[in-house]
Amino acid sequence: MESRIKVGFIGLGRMGLNMVSRIMETGMADLVVYNRSPEPVKIVEEMGATGASSIEDLVEKLDCKQRKIWLMLPAGEITSKVFNSLLKLLNKGDIIIDGGNSNFHETLKRHEQARIAGIKMLDAGVSGGVVAAKRGYPVMVGGDEETYNEIEKLIKLFSLDGGYKLVGGPGAGHYVKMVHNAIEYGMMQAIGEGFELLADGSYKNLDLKEIADLWNHGTIISGFLMEMVGNAFAKRPMLEGIEPWAADSGEGRWASIEAVENGVPFLVNTLALQNRFSSQKKENGLGLKLVSAMRNEFGAHPIREKT
Ligand SMILES: NC(=O)c1ccc[n+]([C@@H]2O[C@H](COP(=O)([O-])OP(=O)(O)OC[C@H]3O[C@@H](n4cnc5c(N)ncnc54)[C@H](OP(=O)(O)O)[C@@H]3O)[C@@H](O)[C@H]2O)c1
Repeated sequence: MESRIKVGFIGLGRMGLNMVSRIMETGMADLVVYNRSPEPVKIVEEMGATGASSIEDLVEKLDCKQRKIWLMLPAGEITSKVFNSLLKLLNKGDIIIDGGNSNFHETLKRHEQARIAGIKMLDAGVSGGVVAAKRGYPVMVGGDEETYNEIEKLIKLFSLDGGYKLVGGPGAGHYVKMVHNAIEYGMMQAIGEGFELLADGSYKNLDLKEIADLWNHGTIISGFLMEMVGNAFAKRPMLEGIEPWAADSGEGRWASIEAVENGVPFLVNTLALQNRFSSQKKENGLGLKLVSAMRNEFGAHPIREKT
């Protein structure tokens, strides 16, 4: 029988809380958890984990030879702050795993900081969204093999069979996750456009939910996203009440910049990102207002006034 693993977990948000719940369900890990707000800590304590009141408290309660701490925090400043605190508190040979969607350039710097401090580090891109709470999380890991082997047992507890791997050296986990997310932008844009044509094209009143369900039976474009399309249309047949507005969360931008820097064609994914920018500017975008104003100036074409 596999032995248990003791791990610290920081960040019990939408991802972290579900991941921790999956781990606790296996009964194979002793978790010490910390979250900025105390409510999620209480929930996980009820599952049998040990709650910590601060990062210092978490480190103290991880009374094992090699501490292993998983971070599931927003990328950027918040991850940096917690990571820097941990570097001061941990002993040589302890492991930090950054499971958030950090920019791989920042990740590379953190690997270097960790190396200088004698701390081991892995970067892990976790996919699957909140839906993976039930199915298991795909995980792409970057770092060295020895450290990966020390943590694989934990990853196994919340991921999918065959859905986790050491994909490369330091930063590679976050790099692969960044490209994955950029592809996600392109695929979602393609699906969105297709359904818009179904709705506004020559054939009126097509049942979009039924088509999504049909397409999800063995077609070339079947899959996870098509399933989400079916779910969305089941809730709102014409997506009533949803603004045509889409946020972008970083990875799409980083991937497009990376593609430019390497001279790699990245047409579809970059356009999908640009379309999200357009959606965010829809109400106040100066550019389109100016297009309308110029047409009016040179051709007296009518302007649509805001009501
Ligand atoms: N959601 C997804 O579908 C998804 C998928 C893959 C990867 N990710 C990545 O996973 C990471 C976590 O995402 P999430 O969706 O779980 O985020 P989330 O639901 O917004 O949770 C964020 C977590 O960070 C904590 N936090 C926020 N600000 C903090 C601060 N100033 N100091 C300390 N802790 C702070 C929150 O604590 P409180 O509870 O106190 O607010 C919470 O535990 C991110 O890097 C995200 O990009 C997300």
